[in-house]
Amino acid sequence: MSSTSTSGPLTTGPWPLTADRDAHGALTIGGVSVVALAEEHGTPLWVVDEQDLRRRCQRYVEGFPGVDVTYASKAWCTVGILQLVDEEGLLIDVASGGELHTALVAGVAPDRLVLHGNNKSVAELDQALEVGVGRIVVDSFDELERLQRLAAARDVVADVWLRITPGIDAHTHEYVRTGHDDAKFGFTLSLGLADEAFTRSLDLANVEVVGIHAHIGSQIFGTDPFIANAEVMLDLLARWRDEHAVTLAELNLGGGMGIRYTHEDHPVEVARYGKAVLEAVEERCAALDYPRPRLVVEPGRAIVGPSTVTVYEVGTVKPLPGLTTWVSVDGGMSDNIRPALYDAEHEVALANRVSQASPRSVTVVGKHCESGDLVREHAPLPEDLQVGDLLAVAATGAYTASMASNYNRLVRPAAVLVRDGRVRPLVRRETLEDLVRNDVPIR
Ligand SMILES: Cc1ncc(COP(=O)(O)O)c(C=O)c1O
Repeated sequence: MSSTSTSGPLTTGPWPLTADRDAHGALTIGGVSVVALAEEHGTPLWVVDEQDLRRRCQRYVEGFPGVDVTYASKAWCTVGILQLVDEEGLLIDVASGGELHTALVAGVAPDRLVLHGNNKSVAELDQALEVGVGRIVVDSFDELERLQRLAAARDVVADVWLRITPGIDAHTHEYVRTGHDDAKFGFTLSLGLADEAFTRSLDLANVEVVGIHAHIGSQIFGTDPFIANAEVMLDLLARWRDEHAVTLAELNLGGGMGIRYTHEDHPVEVARYGKAVLEAVEERCAALDYPRPRLVVEPGRAIVGPSTVTVYEVGTVKPLPGLTTWVSVDGGMSDNIRPALYDAEHEVALANRVSQASPRSVTVVGKHCESGDLVREHAPLPEDLQVGDLLAVAATGAYTASMASNYNRLVRPAAVLVRDGRVRPLVRRETLEDLVRNDVPIR
C-alpha cells in the first residue's frame, strides 16, 4: 500500500506481514481490527504482528547459515519479546544491567547472552560474571582492568570480545554511526588502541580474549560497509596471529541492517546480505589462510522494527490557509522520539476506515509541548480526516518503546501481540498511579 492509498490490503511497503483491511475498511493486524484493539487497550498502542516478528527471526537464521544470530535487545526489550526471540533460536545481546535482568526474567539461558556497553558499571560487570553470561564485550582499558579485578575476586576467567572501532564510516545518521575513528565506543584501530588492548589482555590471568567485535552503525543500506567491516576485522585477526601466535576463533560483525520505514527506503534482502557477507568472509579467510571463525551478527532494528505499528487517535485538525494543516494525535515524542532525534520518517495511514476523499498533505504531530514533536511531516492523508479517526504509523517496533519517556507525564502505552485473531498483552499501559509511584512528597 502506498502512503496515498487509503484502501485495500497493506501487504507491501513498510507494513507488517499480516496487515490487511476488514469488511468495514479497518486496518487489521494478525486478523484483529485495530479499532477493537484501540477500544480495549486505549491509544497510543503498539501492535506487534507475531508472524512478522517470527518470520524475520527465521529469515535471519536462514540467511546466515552457521552464524550465531543475536538479537540486539536495545531495539525493544520486554520479557515477552525476548521470550519470542529466544524461542526462535536467537542469542540475545544486552547493554545494561536492566536489559540483562529482563533477559533473565524472560528465562533466557545466561550463556546465550552477550553483554555490551561503553561504560558498564562494576555492579553490571559483576552481575554478568555471577550469572555467567556467554560473552562480555570489553569497550575500554578501564573496563579491561575492572573486569580483571572482578573476575579474579570470583576466581573465574571471563571470556570476552574486544570491541574494535574499525574506521569504517557508514553513510547513516551521525547519531547512529559508531564505526568511525572518533567514536565513543571501542578501541580505535587506526590509533593503535586495539593492538594495545590485545597486548595488555595477554597478561591478564582472568580475562581471556576469545574474539573481536565491531558494530559500524545502524539503518545502513547496501552490503559494502558490512563487507568492508568483515575484511578489516579478519585482517586484524590474521595480523595478531602473525604477531602474537594467537588464533582468535570468534568474530562478531555487529548489527545495523536498514529497514523500510517508508516506500522510499529500499533495504537489502537478508538473504542477499548474508550471502554477500559470508562469501566475503570465506574469500578473506582463504586469502589470509585463516580458519573461518565462529561468526556472530547482532540485528536489532531488522528483527523487531517492521513488525509493529503504533495506533493513535486524532484529537485536533487545524488547517492554516496557505500554510500547514496540523493533525494532533494522542502520543508523540514520548512514545516515538525518532522523528525528533534523527529526522526519521515513518509512513502513516488512516486506520479505522477507508476514505475515497483525495489526499492532502498534513503534518501529524504529537501532544507534547515541543515544536519538534513530530510524527510525520507532509503525510498524504485523506481530506476528510477528522477528530476521532485512528492513524497507524508503520515500522515502530525498534527504538520507540525502548526509548519511551513520560515527558509531560504521559503514561507509556500498552503493547499487544496479535496473531490469527488472538491478542496477547506484552506490556500493560501505565496508570496515573505508576507516574507518581517513585515521587517522594515533601509535605
Ligand atoms: C553493539 C551493537 N550491536 C547491535 C546493534 C543493533 O543495531 P541495529 O538495531 O541497527 O541492527 C547496536 C545498535 O546500536 C549496537 O550498538
